[in-house]
Amino acid sequence: MRYLRIMFVCNCNGIRCAEVEEAIRTGARTPQAVHRRRGCKAQCGRCLPEIADRIRQAKAASASVTEAPAAQTA
Ligand code: FES
Repeated sequence: MRYLRIMFVCNCNGIRCAEVEEAIRTGARTPQAVHRRRGCKAQCGRCLPEIADRIRQAKAASASVTEAPAAQTA
């Protein structure tokens, strides 16, 4: 769903979904770190749970990749 990537996650600072994903992909592990990477700070805080969810989802996805079963040896 392409339109989701252009939606704003943080309305106070104009941070879009794709920008949150990029911040997470490049190492942001807290909502505050996402804001810092965008050069701003949280204002009202309404976006913090959404950003925290996205970080959690990214960690879970990363863990499932690293926990994949090892290849069997003959
Ligand atoms: S919506 Fe992000 S600080 Fe207000």
